[in-house]
Amino acid sequence: MADRLSELIRRDAQEGLREGWRCEIAGREIYCLVETSSTNHVALNLGRQGALEGTLVVADAQSAGRGRLGRAWLAPPGTSLLFSIIFRPPPGRPPFQTIMAVALGVARGIAAETGLVASLKWPNDVLLNGRKAGGLLAESEAQGALPEFMVVGVGLNVNFLARSVPGIPAEATSLLEASEREVDRCALLRRILQAVDEEYVQFRRGVSPYARWVEALATVGKEVVVELGRDQIRGRAERADESGALWVHEASGTQRRILAGDVTHLRTEG
Ligand code: BTN
Repeated sequence: MADRLSELIRRDAQEGLREGWRCEIAGREIYCLVETSSTNHVALNLGRQGALEGTLVVADAQSAGRGRLGRAWLAPPGTSLLFSIIFRPPPGRPPFQTIMAVALGVARGIAAETGLVASLKWPNDVLLNGRKAGGLLAESEAQGALPEFMVVGVGLNVNFLARSVPGIPAEATSLLEASEREVDRCALLRRILQAVDEEYVQFRRGVSPYARWVEALATVGKEVVVELGRDQIRGRAERADESGALWVHEASGTQRRILAGDVTHLRTEG
C-alpha cells in the first residue's frame, strides 16, 4: 500500500511535503518524481540550468541510482528515502564540509524521528548498529566563470529488509530492521531536511560542522583496511581532518593522508 510520502510525490504535492518545515534553504524548490533514473542526475541538470540553492529532488524509485565509485544504489520502489539537494557553498570553504553538514543533518533527523542513534563511517556512510543503512553521494561541477555547485544525494534504507533485496550487500541494514517497526517516511524526510537545513545554514554563516562530524564518526580509533585502487593500506585510523581526509597510522609508523575520492573500499576491524 502506498504510504503518505508515495502519495504526496505522486500528487506532486510540494506544499504538503513542506508542512511543518521551517527551512531557509533546503527545499526552497521541490521536484517530486515518482520514478527517475537518479535524483543526483536530475539535480545536476537543474544545477547547470541555474536552479536555486536548496533545490530538492525527491523520488520514490530510481532506475539507475548511483552510489560512490560508480556503484549502483538499489532500493525497492516506495520503501526508501532517495533525494538530492543542490548547494552553492560560499567560495573558499572546504568542499567536504558541505557533506559533513548534510551527514550530521541525516543523523539528527533519524534520531528525531525514530530515536535511533546513527553514526557515520568515513567517508560517507550512515550506520545503524554498525551496519550501513544509507550513504551520501556528492557530485560537483564548475560552470565556467560561475561558482561551483554541489549536489549531495542521500539514499536511506527505510521500510524494507536489506537482506531480502538481491544486490544489496548482506551486511546492510535499514531503519525498519534497526527500530523493528515501520517508519513514517514522510515525517522522516521532513525531520532530516529540517536538520540538514539547520546544519547548512550554520555552515554558511561560518560555523564549521567539523568537530561534531568527527564526534559522529565511528571510523576514528579503529583498525582499518583501505583499498586505493590496487594498493592496500592497513593501520589505525587516527583522525579525520577539517578537509575530510582520513589519517591512517600504518604499523611501519608511516602516517598516510587518505582522500575520500581515492578510496575504493574501507573495512574496519575489531
Ligand atoms: C553510497 O553509499 O555509495 C552513496 C549512495 C547514495 C545514493 C543516493 S540515492 C539518491 C541519490 N541519487 C543517486 O543516484 N544516488 C544518491
